[in-house]
Amino acid sequence: MEKATVERIADFVGKEVVLKGWLKAKRSKGKIHFLLVRDGTGVIQCVMEQSNVPQDMFENADHCPLESSVEVKGTVREDKRSPTGFEIDVSSFKILGPAEEYPIGRKEHGIGFLMQWRHLYLRHKEPHAIMRIRATLIRAIRDFFDSRGFLLVDAPILTPAACEGTTTLFQVGYFDNVAYLTQSGQLYNEATAAAFGKVYCFGPTFRAEKSKTRRHLMEFWMVEPEMAFCDLEENIQIAEEFVEYIVGRVLEERRKELEALERDTKPLEAVKRPFIRLHYNEAIEILHSKGSDILWGDDFGGDDETMLTKDAEKPIVVHRFPAAVKAFYMKKDPEDPRFALCMDVLAPEGYGEIIGGGQREDDLKTLEESIKAHGLPMEAFSWYLDLRRYGTFEHSGFGLGIERTLAWICGLSHVREAIPFPRTLDKIWP
Ligand code: 4AD
Ligand code: MG
Repeated sequence: MEKATVERIADFVGKEVVLKGWLKAKRSKGKIHFLLVRDGTGVIQCVMEQSNVPQDMFENADHCPLESSVEVKGTVREDKRSPTGFEIDVSSFKILGPAEEYPIGRKEHGIGFLMQWRHLYLRHKEPHAIMRIRATLIRAIRDFFDSRGFLLVDAPILTPAACEGTTTLFQVGYFDNVAYLTQSGQLYNEATAAAFGKVYCFGPTFRAEKSKTRRHLMEFWMVEPEMAFCDLEENIQIAEEFVEYIVGRVLEERRKELEALERDTKPLEAVKRPFIRLHYNEAIEILHSKGSDILWGDDFGGDDETMLTKDAEKPIVVHRFPAAVKAFYMKKDPEDPRFALCMDVLAPEGYGEIIGGGQREDDLKTLEESIKAHGLPMEAFSWYLDLRRYGTFEHSGFGLGIERTLAWICGLSHVREAIPFPRTLDKIWP
């Protein structure tokens, strides 16, 4: 007897198989039980007729609590009416691990309740679809860079200094010293770009952001490419190609899951280069025309990004933000040094920033001044300054947040649904 999975069930038509999983739902009609079994790869209806099994087995199935782990044996049959297209005619049914009364019912639960039971809720339709799309998104990200001459070189998680500002650092003990959880692998990427040319790192990053918005997590995953001898323009072009590619791959490979989430795929299909490009000044003008009271010189808040992207048909690249509100490492625009050579990619449909990046300051003196001006400890960056001392080079890169990107692709209302176990301002459970 062969071990089957729901995902590959078509390979087993007419065959006797064994399927292990969990009882998701059941209903009975006269002398037949309809058992919905999920095995992690999908859900299939298993039809148990009283006349085909011993009496105690038939009763056992009748009393089987939902979410018990079970073993089903039976013959796979094609059935056009069933959602999966297949059913199993049961010849044997065994409860492996009986479940206690399952806390997540069929009625609508609030998101707070579901997040409290996140460890069980992952078994359900929406998170199940989202995590499968997440895995595909990550594979697409790796494929994109791996096939374009980028080398994966990972950055450390424990770091001696800030990358994205000192106000959002998680501090941890490091024997007799302190260390910080990384906010971004970028500074290390700049070192590895000088060693390998084109690199990317991919891993968890941490921000102690006292923000309780639908866009903020304390722990999120970021992919960060960095390229030697690359300016802002080329950086933007790669970011555009990248976003088009990863969205395309999800559309190709995860239609079923997008459908399960009732995601309208039209806006995703429109994600084609060239994206919309706006200088910061133009973006401010548009925001004012839409009624925003943002002041020239301010960084965008979530509301500004929503306003800017709500009706956009494509992602928007906003470039050249005022240098004063951006990180210390950004190169200033030689044509107008009030602006930094940076860019954000904003996802449409109100989602906002999914990518932040730009061209890095490559002049030693200017960088030293910037570190001072930002009130950062010079010693902590001495190794970083070495990259300007030993063969400085024009270079650029960016970071894409996985959860924000996934939230957009899946059409979710909050990033916490885009990571298996979210860490938010008020919650580190489960
Ligand atoms: O714009 P950010 O802060 O850029 C950097 O960290 C650069 N050092 C990256 C680089 O150039 N290598 O963050 C990049 C992206 C954002 O666009 C967003 O998608 C995500 O990381 N992000 C968050 N996602 C969830 N929760 C948070 N608190 C996030 N902060 C940033
Ligand atoms: Mg940013």
